[in-house]
Amino acid sequence: MTEIPRINRLFPDQVKDVGLHDALVFPGEADQWVRAVFVASVDGAATVAGHAGGLGNDIDKQLFALNRALADVILVGAGTARTEVYGPAEDDPQWRHLRENRTPTAPMAVVSHSLDLDFSAPLFTEAPDSAQTILITCADTSAQTRDQAAEVAEVIVAGQTSVDLSAALVELRNRGFAQIVCEGGPQLFTDLLEVGGVDELCLTRSPTLIAGTETTILRGAQLEPPVDLELESLFGTDDGFLYLLYRPAG
Ligand SMILES: NC(=O)c1ccc[n+]([C@@H]2O[C@H](COP(=O)([O-])OP(=O)(O)OC[C@H]3O[C@@H](n4cnc5c(N)ncnc54)[C@H](OP(=O)(O)O)[C@@H]3O)[C@@H](O)[C@H]2O)c1
Repeated sequence: MTEIPRINRLFPDQVKDVGLHDALVFPGEADQWVRAVFVASVDGAATVAGHAGGLGNDIDKQLFALNRALADVILVGAGTARTEVYGPAEDDPQWRHLRENRTPTAPMAVVSHSLDLDFSAPLFTEAPDSAQTILITCADTSAQTRDQAAEVAEVIVAGQTSVDLSAALVELRNRGFAQIVCEGGPQLFTDLLEVGGVDELCLTRSPTLIAGTETTILRGAQLEPPVDLELESLFGTDDGFLYLLYRPAG
């Protein structure tokens, strides 16, 4: 087993060598908790040449894997699933102990309006029976494509002409998914913020400048009003990476 990664807490108090799991524990009190997970450069870019992979260090990769292990379900927008060629979550020996009394891996829940997804891809066909991929869409989509999807996925219809994310979260809660890790992308994160559907942002800040036209962690019209955040905790590693947990203020 690989050694548990350790990071330094810088806020609210300073503690050296905190285990990554202790740093990222989910609050137990909520009946549902949505944690959005992103990595971004200092100037806010969420991708390098269109992909997120170039931004993280090894700890960020382990943080990503840990969040997956903590999740009851992994929520992702179809854009990210397409760009990053998503497959089912993998059983991770390092964090397996965190999934006691749960399925070995969390299912993926993909949000899509277009249903422009390859239902013969591993994301759908290679998901284990215990963690079948979920497709979240709305009623105003092709019934035929939904039927096709239903052969390889659990289909949740939330909303009529657009996906009602609040209703989708209720549907997930009804299925027992309390700890939701949302891996983005920017469009889904923005839409979730608009309906008050985000409880926490877990942001890795990479000590890098990118510029160009890369997306930030948000996409679309300016949030009105802006969403103020409170810093819950701040961690760092000697290579200059920062790991922040924010919660919407109030
Ligand atoms: N730095 C990071 O941590 C990070 C994390 C994730 C992604 N990314 C990057 O972000 C980029 C993708 O950005 P994106 O904004 O396209 O990602 P996205 O939010 O994953 O995908 C947008 C698509 O997801 C579906 N979707 C999202 N919100 C929806 C809603 N409310 N209702 C219905 N469908 C919804 C739609 O799919 P349909 O088109 O199928 O209707 C929409 O076109 C990629 O380059 C990826 O690498 C970076």
